[in-house]
Amino acid sequence: MSTQPTTEANDIDLTTTLHKPYYHVHFFVCVNRRNNSRSCAGGGSEHLQEYAKKRAKELERPELGRVRINKSGCLGRCEHGPIAVVYPDGVWYRYRSKEDLNEILLEHIVHGRTVHRLVVRDTEDME
Ligand code: FES
Repeated sequence: MSTQPTTEANDIDLTTTLHKPYYHVHFFVCVNRRNNSRSCAGGGSEHLQEYAKKRAKELERPELGRVRINKSGCLGRCEHGPIAVVYPDGVWYRYRSKEDLNEILLEHIVHGRTVHRLVVRDTEDME
């Protein structure tokens, strides 16, 4: 008698689905707005998020896998904003312009290279 677990036809194989993310890259852009204090939307992030979404579509290639550009609420690092984070890499970026976002999309998402000049380091929160 076999001790191997059996697999029913409708079972989900979690060993493969858990290791293959639906999105190859998930880019969260904070668009939070506050009236009485600094926020990413106050720095133009709503308009720039729309630009990033459009630009990512233009850069779409099958070999990159699925790329998702999402609006986000406050990501908790307002003092560095406007801010965005790339997952699964967990790299945080500050940006000021379309040119900055274009560089992040081209370098990080298309070529897999960190844009060091725009990175927000963890140690900056302790300064
Ligand atoms: S308002 Fe954008 S990180 Fe808080």
